[in-house]
Amino acid sequence: MSPGIQLTEQGNLRHLLTIEGLSSETLLNILDTAESFITLGRREIKKVPLLRGRTVVNLFFEASTRTRTTFEIAAKRLSADVINLNPTHSSTSKGETLLDTVRTLEAMHTDLFCVRHPESGAPHLIARNVPDHVHIINAGDGRHAHPTQALLDMFTIRAHKGEFRNLRVAVVGDVLHSRVARSQIHALSTLGVAEIRVVGPRTLLPREIERLGVRVFTEMDEGLRDVDVIMMLRVQRERMDGAQIPSEQEYFNLYGLTEERLALADSGAIVMHPGPINRGLEIDSAVADGERSVILAQVTYGIAIRMAVMAIILGGSEPRRSRLPDA
Ligand code: NCD
Repeated sequence: MSPGIQLTEQGNLRHLLTIEGLSSETLLNILDTAESFITLGRREIKKVPLLRGRTVVNLFFEASTRTRTTFEIAAKRLSADVINLNPTHSSTSKGETLLDTVRTLEAMHTDLFCVRHPESGAPHLIARNVPDHVHIINAGDGRHAHPTQALLDMFTIRAHKGEFRNLRVAVVGDVLHSRVARSQIHALSTLGVAEIRVVGPRTLLPREIERLGVRVFTEMDEGLRDVDVIMMLRVQRERMDGAQIPSEQEYFNLYGLTEERLALADSGAIVMHPGPINRGLEIDSAVADGERSVILAQVTYGIAIRMAVMAIILGGSEPRRSRLPDA
């Protein structure tokens, strides 16, 4: 899965498929652009005409609440026309292939597809098969990547902690099944975070994760000591095939984030989670709802980040219809 495909020859963002391979300038440009959209959400009229006349299709082959909704809100606040497709209710369930579905929607003059798919690499496959004027944003593929989640997480960290360089950040829990963790680690490392830790049971850590430049901790208390940011991950029971975790109670006892454990982190540490959260499994309610939690702020920032990505990708490109008939 080559990251090269997402940049134009001039180095502009054409698709957003993965964080891997993007420069810190590109990431910071997205964060800065998102900054300019934050105040828009607080206005009575939450719209700008940036993408007026453009068509965005949310193509979600997997369940999602916050990601799909925030992509939709983001596109609407930029004045694009948005269609939400849940392909279990459309032709894909009648056997139409992924690319046929995309080509059909492309024939309706779609400018941008936001794609979530259970298989790693599906958004790349689409990106390799669309004409130049059609753009793809990966909204989460299999265990591979979830770049807009990682970007909104970076936005959250910067909003609460300022500079990235001096931070100690712990990514905690089911790293093995998490596309979010992979994208977070690439983003944290590109932005120069001083120390990236992954914390979890060996059975839920990918082999050779150290190669990504992280410190591995299998003891929760040790892993949390003095960190500035705790990025919790959901235990992805639907992706587990065997006994990768002991009983839920035992998992919570060993790796659940409680107030006692939070006290081991830096006194100003923030607690993040991409959602949906499993209360009482990876995180205690007192922490999820507590004053260090920025979990709901992450959701709000997600709108501004998705607006920024759409604006950057579509803002720099004129819609062209070379391969398509006029309509
Ligand atoms: C994540 C996802 O779907 O990858 N959630 C999200 O996008 N907000 C994480 C998860 O499902 O655990």
